[in-house]
Amino acid sequence: HDNDAACPFSRQARSFDPFGVAYQSDPAEALRFSREDEPVFYSEAMGYWVVSRYDDIKAVFRDNITFSPANALEKITPATPEAVAVLKREGYGMDRTLVNEDEPVHMARRRALLDAFAPDALAEHAPMVRDLVREKLDAIIERGHSDLVEDMLWDVPLTVALTFLGVPDDDMTTLRSFSVAHTVNTWGKPTPDQQVAVAEGVAKFWNYSGDVLARMSAQVDAGKDVHGWMYDMIRQNRVMPDIVTDNYLQSMMMAIIVAAHETTALASANAFRELLTHRHQWDAICRDPALIPAAVEECLRHSGSMVAWRRIATRDAAVGGVTIPEGGRILMVMASGNRDPRHFENPDALDIWRDNSADHLTFGYGAHQCMGKNIGRMEMAIIIEEVSRRLPHLQLAEQELTYLPNISLRGPEALRVTWDPAKNPERQDP
Ligand code: HEM
Repeated sequence: HDNDAACPFSRQARSFDPFGVAYQSDPAEALRFSREDEPVFYSEAMGYWVVSRYDDIKAVFRDNITFSPANALEKITPATPEAVAVLKREGYGMDRTLVNEDEPVHMARRRALLDAFAPDALAEHAPMVRDLVREKLDAIIERGHSDLVEDMLWDVPLTVALTFLGVPDDDMTTLRSFSVAHTVNTWGKPTPDQQVAVAEGVAKFWNYSGDVLARMSAQVDAGKDVHGWMYDMIRQNRVMPDIVTDNYLQSMMMAIIVAAHETTALASANAFRELLTHRHQWDAICRDPALIPAAVEECLRHSGSMVAWRRIATRDAAVGGVTIPEGGRILMVMASGNRDPRHFENPDALDIWRDNSADHLTFGYGAHQCMGKNIGRMEMAIIIEEVSRRLPHLQLAEQELTYLPNISLRGPEALRVTWDPAKNPERQDP
């Protein structure tokens, strides 16, 4: 724009860059100007329409025909020719999953795959989650210090995800090493050199997912009594191969590990950071664990792990009084919607007693709303229950937190905490 007067958007809006320091250090704060004055704007710097208010984000999520999710997992930083060559050489074939699939195929698949998420099915996983958390706590309880991410929060959701999928134990170790490459690949800004390394990581992840799938499919075909969501998918593939296709199985294998793992790990790390920073709220949940589900919800609102999500307009359509043209790419910043004072009173404050925390947009909304939301919630609640019961005297250590640079997934890479083992309640009352 040479002519500022002709452009409806402010300079700040036009130059909005989600890889800039402001958004990377605090996405909700970086969008305050937008929430207040220009709720839907076009960022020339990124080539996206940015939506920042609660009601507008919900309206976009609600209409998945006008606002298609097809671009949800598109690489935000286009691949370099070298990276493309690596993916081609390795036969990388990631295609649609559920989250970026259009109707009517999406709903048919979603329905075919819902059983594993029924409340009874989920309740069966709770003891496994608790055992895992206890094991992690046993390993550190006498130590007096920990990086909670490394010692617990990274590993528990990954093991839960792989167990939920039914992945054999032997394959879990290898699969552990792959997921970060996928996050950087989708939502990050790798340098040209990193692009090649990321492409290699992603291709390995893809091919290994194919190997695991082949082993799991053989079990199904041999009529073995095997359980897990991936096995459900394989069985549906045998019954309705046009809906649950072969490619879809392999794409889901890879996508779900990311969807279920890093989201929950980072949301848990954010929750500990916030609760320990707001000491009276931490102390309140230590005294009264019945507050934990509400605390989980408020942490997901205040500091969710999915801070932004994408859609693409399939026709000209108005959002918040602005017309987004057909083909317009949209970035909905849920971290901003979750701090919208039009919906949440005193929105910047963490308040576990708030009565509408659960309205947050961190799990998306509408036809594609997160299928795993109750697994994520259950894991976070169990982790917080166990840690607050056994380490109520936990303190955040002095530290500079770091975050993987990307536009969607947010949570500290490490979270160091300390405590005095002599004061562990179980020493007093074993
Ligand atoms: C979709 C966030 C945990 C499985 C989504 C979406 C978001 C999200 C933002 C897109 C929603 C939309 O387009 O409206 C999160 C967060 C989690 C989490 C913040 C943890 C705190 C999980 C877990 C699973 C899971 C544990 C386990 C399997 C899925 C699936 C979809 C999805 C299958 C696609 C649903 C569809 O398109 O129909 N999630 N997720 N997520 N998530 Fe999660």
